[in-house]
Amino acid sequence: MTDTTAEKATAAASGAAATERFRSKLRTDAAEGDTKRVDTLVTELLTATHDIIRRHKLTYAEYDALKAWLIRVGEDGEWPLFLDVWVEHVVEEVAGEVREGTKGSIEGPYYVPDAPALPAEATLPMREDEAGTPLLFQGQVTSVDGTPLPSAKVEIWQADDDGFYSQFAPNLPQWNLRGTVIADGTGHFKVHTIQPAPYQIPTDGACGQLISAAGWHPWRPAHLHLKVSAPGHQLITTQLYFEGGEYVDDDIATAVKPELILSPTPTGNGDDREVTYDFALDKA
Ligand code: DHB
Ligand code: FE
Repeated sequence: MTDTTAEKATAAASGAAATERFRSKLRTDAAEGDTKRVDTLVTELLTATHDIIRRHKLTYAEYDALKAWLIRVGEDGEWPLFLDVWVEHVVEEVAGEVREGTKGSIEGPYYVPDAPALPAEATLPMREDEAGTPLLFQGQVTSVDGTPLPSAKVEIWQADDDGFYSQFAPNLPQWNLRGTVIADGTGHFKVHTIQPAPYQIPTDGACGQLISAAGWHPWRPAHLHLKVSAPGHQLITTQLYFEGGEYVDDDIATAVKPELILSPTPTGNGDDREVTYDFALDKA
């Protein structure tokens, strides 16, 4: 583990960065001005909460613990993390119900737009001595009907071999393991990267406190994050996982789908591995 990164990566710092990032992309359009919908959703949320309190005879001590914890989630800047780990997967499930193409998955808190543009065959920006097994990730972007999509955009972001994301942990180059690959004239792309490591959500903040209080584990399986898009088609946000990897069957964020599991094979060159995954985009 890179000591400098590990030493200073705190829940409060990554939480603050994730909160800042979220504020800058806020989608306010849908939720404004519909009083009836707000009434329905909030009333149902509160009613469900009241039911739980009655059913389990919540005590004042537990109510105070809940209040203190909610306050701490805010202080630690961990609302993006909490929501993306325990809630977003159902929002994504509902959004995905109307699509036929490649399955989506959660975006999570660590996407940054406008990562450096790269040609159809490229190496993700990484440090000279970047740790991890080299991985060649390649494929083709088509429409759901199989038509190739020239110059499709394949945005990739991932954690490094220690499980850290650039711009959300200290001492990493700004765009480390982030890139916007522009596919070729037939929608093909080839990305040289490293195999990411399982990702541990920060354990020293409010979310970590909840995880240990509930006897859970803080891990997500190793994953690549992707946003794939092309003109006239719906952008897909997804993640890809690795067959047989730790936590694939027990993801804290419940974001694994069987269609999103890769099975890389050896290239014959040392430990290097390669895998092909094609994306099918729904029409806009
Ligand atoms: C979180 C982190 C991730 O890398 C991810 O993909 C989803 C959620 C999180 O810490 O909330
Ligand atoms: Fe992630």
